[in-house]
Amino acid sequence: MSWAAALALAYLIGAVPCGFLIAKSLTGEDVRASGSGSTGATNVVRKAGLAAGLLTYVLDVLKGFLALWVAAWVSGSTSPRLLGAAGLAAVLGHMFPVYLGLRGGKGVATGVGVFLVLSPVATLLALLTWGLVFALTRTVSLGSLLGVLVLPIGIWLCDGWWLGRASEVWLPSLIWAVAIGTAIIARHGGNLQRLYRGTESTFRQTGWQTP
Ligand code: G3P
Repeated sequence: MSWAAALALAYLIGAVPCGFLIAKSLTGEDVRASGSGSTGATNVVRKAGLAAGLLTYVLDVLKGFLALWVAAWVSGSTSPRLLGAAGLAAVLGHMFPVYLGLRGGKGVATGVGVFLVLSPVATLLALLTWGLVFALTRTVSLGSLLGVLVLPIGIWLCDGWWLGRASEVWLPSLIWAVAIGTAIIARHGGNLQRLYRGTESTFRQTGWQTP
């Protein structure tokens, strides 16, 4: 099958609205009507609690894995170019799900799933960055944004320099990390404004349930 079919399937997998379905089944409400309006794990934590948010996170990460696996299977290619393009399709599916009127999440967890396949060591570095920033600030979005910035640098440092991989392998991953990272940062426009104004929601004072 063609790349087009592979990318379409990756999009449809990314678009499966795990957070929406979990929050809806637990609360009976649309998670997009509260908090940040996202279907992502952070907003599900706010709406339905920590366990629901963690389940959403795990499933959204798995969407990234699955999208790449299915894309490789239907196209018969495991080239980093195809996998990166499928990763972008999956992340865009998560952000703009056809099943939910194109209003979904911000793509971070699905992006983690994609890059755990493409560049696991650099992804662990980005996750470590997220963890450090969250531990210090209790602000998920700030950790996500800095993690997204660290990822391409991590790919260059870990895959290119430290592990000594061929540039044909790590350079496409780096380029896709920049492309997917740009989409994720663009989706965090509201968060960036709130961070700038000092009004971004944190889990500092209010615990996990409500921002
Ligand atoms: O992964 C999304 C996170 O970075 C921000 O989520 O709901 O606070 O906009 P939220």
